[in-house]
Amino acid sequence: MTDHVIITDEGPIRTIRMNRPEKKNALTSAMYDAMAQAIETASGSSPIRCVLICGAPGAFSAGNDLGDFMKAAMGGEGLGNSVMRFLYSLARAERPLVAAVQGVAVGIGTTMMLHCDYAVAASDARFSTPFVALGLVPEAASSLIAPGLMGHRRAFELLVMGKPLSGEEAKAAGLVNQVAPAGEVEAEAMKAAQQIAALPLEGVAISRRFMKGTPDEIVRRMDEESFAFRQRLGSPEAREAFTAFLSRKG
Ligand code: COA
Repeated sequence: MTDHVIITDEGPIRTIRMNRPEKKNALTSAMYDAMAQAIETASGSSPIRCVLICGAPGAFSAGNDLGDFMKAAMGGEGLGNSVMRFLYSLARAERPLVAAVQGVAVGIGTTMMLHCDYAVAASDARFSTPFVALGLVPEAASSLIAPGLMGHRRAFELLVMGKPLSGEEAKAAGLVNQVAPAGEVEAEAMKAAQQIAALPLEGVAISRRFMKGTPDEIVRRMDEESFAFRQRLGSPEAREAFTAFLSRKG
């Protein structure tokens, strides 16, 4: 698989740690697959009752690897199977998802929050989704979930204008549940995961299903966004934005 994602099971809690700090946890296909598998297998008769997603100090995730986006753009491809598998795993997760966010959370690093049941952000967290400035469009069914969560106007600022949110602002917008000092974020998220894991499994599962509805509508929107995303990946604006980022230190 990959060393860039570390999966650890401790009792009923599975921790998924993105571990590519030298690239600010920018996500590659192998990382998406590893994370998707960890979520998919926390299901059925698995003893795992809650899944905790963590990054590194200073970087939850810088979003999709822009080199990979560039390759996809050049090859006329879209988001790719691994990205879609990961997105579907979020939409169809059978066990509650908890996130601990420190530092940057860009693109999918932010839209992942919309699928989490509980999220703790560090005071140094910075959520941003610069999709449109990159020539792209929102993904992960964020165009469906975010307006319902925070209202159209705030969702527009985030998803279209790309205005970043601090930890406190993310809490005010309903994107995360709690803000904690950076050094305490993971402990606080683990505490929440343990509280969830101690609850009756079936009661949690049934409640979640009622609250989230069936994943069909979410998955359909993911597919629709993915279709538009593919077209935008091939746009001159997107290529220019990727080239600018990839060549900025050269
Ligand atoms: N894809 C590929 N590499 C990335 C990356 C990404 N999304 N984000 C960061 N990196 C790499 C940088 O190229 C750099 O690599 P290098 O040291 O080999 O040059 C390394 O990670 C550190 O990044 P750097 O930009 O120096 O750190 P920073 O703290 O100054 O800035 C970010 C961090 C996340 C704000 C900045 O890297 C950034 O804007 N990244 C792009 C985010 C993005 O647009 N994601 C896609 C969303 S759809």
